[in-house]
Amino acid sequence: SWNMPDYVETAVKRIRDEVGSDQVILGLSGGVDSSVAAALIHRAIGDQLTCVFVDNGLLRLNEAEQVMETFANNLGVKVIHVDASAKFLGDLAGVTDPEAKRKIIGREFVEVFQTESAKLPQAKWLAQGTIYPDVIESAGAKTKKAHTIKSHHNVGGLPDTLKLKLLEPLRELFKDEVRELGVALGLPHAMVYRHPFPGPGLGVRILGEVKKEYADLLRRADAIFIEELRASGWYDKTSQAFAVFLPVKSVGVMGDGRTYDYVVALRAVVTSDFMTAHWAELPYELLGKVSNRIINEVRGINRVVYDISGKPPATIEWE
Ligand code: XMP
Repeated sequence: SWNMPDYVETAVKRIRDEVGSDQVILGLSGGVDSSVAAALIHRAIGDQLTCVFVDNGLLRLNEAEQVMETFANNLGVKVIHVDASAKFLGDLAGVTDPEAKRKIIGREFVEVFQTESAKLPQAKWLAQGTIYPDVIESAGAKTKKAHTIKSHHNVGGLPDTLKLKLLEPLRELFKDEVRELGVALGLPHAMVYRHPFPGPGLGVRILGEVKKEYADLLRRADAIFIEELRASGWYDKTSQAFAVFLPVKSVGVMGDGRTYDYVVALRAVVTSDFMTAHWAELPYELLGKVSNRIINEVRGINRVVYDISGKPPATIEWE
């Protein structure tokens, strides 16, 4: 294990030696790894770093605002905020297959990122938040025949198409070390200890066809769930938790009237490696509160269910 202040100094020096006076670009996702990589590289080379944050329309509630607040406003990092949501949602129209959706979202990201990086022709380096377990995993995937249940391409394909040198300052760190480094660099605790969020985002949490209307409903339901998990102290006791949008309508009553609205499923799991997982035994009181709040506050959702499936045989995400 590293002494973090010493590690920061060593890593900063290494980055400066490596890139010299070159310009660097980095795709900032709001996730832990790219955030810590951005903070570290910014500490080392300041304005030689430009981050590109792509809003694909499949982010969580207020996510873009939070990323801009933390990086651009608080840390003074140069961040280009690209709102590509119309493009992503347009390309996803009519597509229902989970893997087809992943491919479109992955391809679209590469396209948007390429367009943005073309505006920075002086950039020589592409920085990525690759961590040690990713290095091991991709080495394994090359030697073994990868047994893929779900394709996890976040930024796959970028280095090849951009013809940039790769800067990966977290390559030797485990996740817990990346988090410690993030804290040492002054990132907010809540950002550094956030649950993982898949690259395709809400795209794989809206079952079947993705529509803006569904994404907007899901964002609000999900934000209520996460807010109540944090308020009750359960956020840190679960490994991942989120809401899933089911494009199914069921009947309900509200006041004197009948409703015919969509269903949201809550998913919360406890796991150490995400290969197997237990559903989280959340208190009934908490589940009840979340359900009441979602149904009362999110017009368009009139039923909330809790997913009690383990992995295996279910996966953590529904798609
Ligand atoms: P599953 O659903 O396979 O999820 O049990 C295991 C972990 O992987 C995440 N996940 C993804 N992450 N792109 C990602 O970056 C993806 O396409 C993807 N699919 C699943 C999931 O959130 C969980 O942490």
